[in-house]
Amino acid sequence: MSQRLTIPLNLNWLFHRHDAPRAWQNRYDDSAWRPITLPHDWSVEEPFSQEHSSGTGYLAGGIGWYRKHFTLPVLAPSSRVTVRFDGVYKNSQVWCNGHYLGKRPYGYSEFIYDISHAVRTDGSENILVVRVENLEKGDSRWFTGSGIYRDVSITVTGPVAIADYGVFAYPTNAAVGEISVDTTLRNDTAEIATVEIRQTLAFAGKTVAEATASQTLPPYSADSKVTQPLKVENPQLWSPETPHLYTLTTVITQNGAEIDRIQTTTGLRDIHFDPAKGFFLNGENYTMKGVCLHHDAGCLGAAVRPKVWVRRLKALKEMGCNAIRMAHNPHMPALYDLCDTMGFLVIDEAFDEWEGVKNKWTTGHNVYPPAHYGYYEDFPAWGAADLTAMVLRDRNHPSVILWSIGNEIKERADSSGIAIAARLKEIVRRHDDTRPVTAAINDFWDNPGLKWADSERAFQHLDICGYNYTWREYENDIRLFPDRIIYSSETTPMEFAANWDLVEKYPCIIGDFVWTALDYLGESGIGHAIRVKNDEKDPPLLLGYPWFNGWCGDIDICGDPKPQSMLRKVVWGNSIMEMAVKTPIPQGYRESLSYWGWTDEYPSWNWEGYENQPIEVRVFTRYPAVRLYLNGKPIEEKKTGLGNELSTSDLSRQKIAYTAGFEILYAPGELKATGIDAAGNEQESVILNTTGAPSKIRLTADRTQINASRNDLAYIRIELVDDNGNVTPDSDCRVHLTVSGNGEIAASGNASPTDMESFRSLSPKTYKGKALAIIRPDGNAGHITLTAKAEGISEKSIEVVCR
Ligand code: GAL
Repeated sequence: MSQRLTIPLNLNWLFHRHDAPRAWQNRYDDSAWRPITLPHDWSVEEPFSQEHSSGTGYLAGGIGWYRKHFTLPVLAPSSRVTVRFDGVYKNSQVWCNGHYLGKRPYGYSEFIYDISHAVRTDGSENILVVRVENLEKGDSRWFTGSGIYRDVSITVTGPVAIADYGVFAYPTNAAVGEISVDTTLRNDTAEIATVEIRQTLAFAGKTVAEATASQTLPPYSADSKVTQPLKVENPQLWSPETPHLYTLTTVITQNGAEIDRIQTTTGLRDIHFDPAKGFFLNGENYTMKGVCLHHDAGCLGAAVRPKVWVRRLKALKEMGCNAIRMAHNPHMPALYDLCDTMGFLVIDEAFDEWEGVKNKWTTGHNVYPPAHYGYYEDFPAWGAADLTAMVLRDRNHPSVILWSIGNEIKERADSSGIAIAARLKEIVRRHDDTRPVTAAINDFWDNPGLKWADSERAFQHLDICGYNYTWREYENDIRLFPDRIIYSSETTPMEFAANWDLVEKYPCIIGDFVWTALDYLGESGIGHAIRVKNDEKDPPLLLGYPWFNGWCGDIDICGDPKPQSMLRKVVWGNSIMEMAVKTPIPQGYRESLSYWGWTDEYPSWNWEGYENQPIEVRVFTRYPAVRLYLNGKPIEEKKTGLGNELSTSDLSRQKIAYTAGFEILYAPGELKATGIDAAGNEQESVILNTTGAPSKIRLTADRTQINASRNDLAYIRIELVDDNGNVTPDSDCRVHLTVSGNGEIAASGNASPTDMESFRSLSPKTYKGKALAIIRPDGNAGHITLTAKAEGISEKSIEVVCR
């Protein structure tokens, strides 16, 4: 039997929120420490406060200590025992039974310590201790979280075994079913070991290919590598539309006895990049409908569970998205598994800083002085290890198609930056030469004196060229550099349609990634649309307190689509037509819109108090014209396209194609927009109705049956609805929540970027008629009942079964 054991280590940790300098000692008294379950983020547990940084969402950092008492099953003395941390933000230091194991500054890297020498394998108690230090105010440009915010596990193997990250499966020619497997083996004994390596590839439970090899491992060696090609008949190719996955089982035997076994999920897919013709997936031209993501999950902070991503990825699929850029660091491992199974292409990104220093805004954008501490302090010593960790961890995912070595790196066009890029590329290649290397290059606003022409140096070592917000340079660069393969690594929501037209026009522009998919904590107010007096100046780009989230996402922090996603859905072909109505602006005021912002509009026809006053309506569609009806009467017909998107002046900064803008006099009832095709015929319609007053609470669970595990969650959407079940977007109120049964309310909140009530509140306000509660099982089978009541509205309960 295989000697490999994997033991999850997330339950029953003890936590102390401040420094406890002697807590690494075995006999330290931790009896007063707080019990917690991993993943854990203390930043999001604490209230927002202006004393913290706007960049990181006005949430605290600080110091925290964790202790875990555990026993292992009785093991052979020759066993190799390792502990794996999927991510600790940041500057973690780890001890096992008082032995110091090491530190890891970067908060996004997975790391493994060999604890064979320190751990007790006789069945007696062990203590693992972790100190986490996230002290500097504004150490990051976005919310990071603090603590052991990803999983921890222990792995036990025999002394001769597959090395850490030792199986790498990569398609060599997927179209004809060819895949290769590199297996790296270690031998921790003083003897030569001869082993047999058997690979079995299965699809839907059936073996489809096998290979066997034997290898002699020198004593005390950790890098004996064996390559085994496999061939599959009738290959089922992986793509976002057909995310077929294969399971590879690697079995190691010695003297006829099995000594190790690992399963690896893999996929057969071919990627090919051609400057003249674009990106090819499995031989077919493919365009990346992409989004950028940060790693937090709104009111759960950085302590994200896989189920959170299932819900969010479904929302992205509905928008038509097929590609994700992991900004600007490796994300949690389960997210990559979900990209494999649900079908998303992934750009995996390592860094936001190399050696150059970025400003971290702490009280609002361009509000001096900025903070300067950041990863650049650790990059010289740790950059190679952190990049290696990302590639080794993620290289088996068929979803990952590009390695990004950095985002908007300050020194990108300097000789130092060029040299670093070459070195990083070489590190990537050493561990995976099957995927190209990219980076996101921005204009030189951060390097006075340099011009876009200088970007040629920054692109020099990149196989694929990411352009941040520089789509106006595409046509010129395509002429100058016919060998360049381009994608928009970041675009603003407002510039998306103009950008996408270029993606459609030029094959060498292989996709677009909007900043961003989802609202995230930190970079507070980067995307805003607020009212200012006509004679007032625009506010700074990042708004100060109480804005705490970026507000530039297509999807809000509760998981609901925002208006900018309507246009994307239409342009990406997932919706024929969408309609939004702009919140009226009082006399004497105007809308101040930031570069990443979107006008304050919503799919709502509830504008009580504005009867007979002009209201702006925008319809997004690929039809050439739109006809608007109010309460059955035709009002106006307008063409769509650039220049037709607006009715009045203050939206004129938004050059948004595929849009028809109207100004009509408000009357409650039914507003209908009908698409008019090129022949002048009416096609599909979209309708908004004025709702009644809220009379009920509606509670909807994303799943009504969940696992009886601390690791699972259910999202309960809370909506105020009228008698006909329509969400009432204009009558917000407080909702009081109680929970009973086998679980707790892990977090609650609403999507507002400025409602700073703690995410632990049991009485969140609704925002545009909606709020959210996340419930988490206590680990026992049973049920959880959530009850919500609001003043003047009858209470409502929902039950979730835990099995
Ligand atoms: C970009 C940057 C992103 C984000 C965005 C604006 O320049 O790469 O990380 O800061 O601006 O919010």
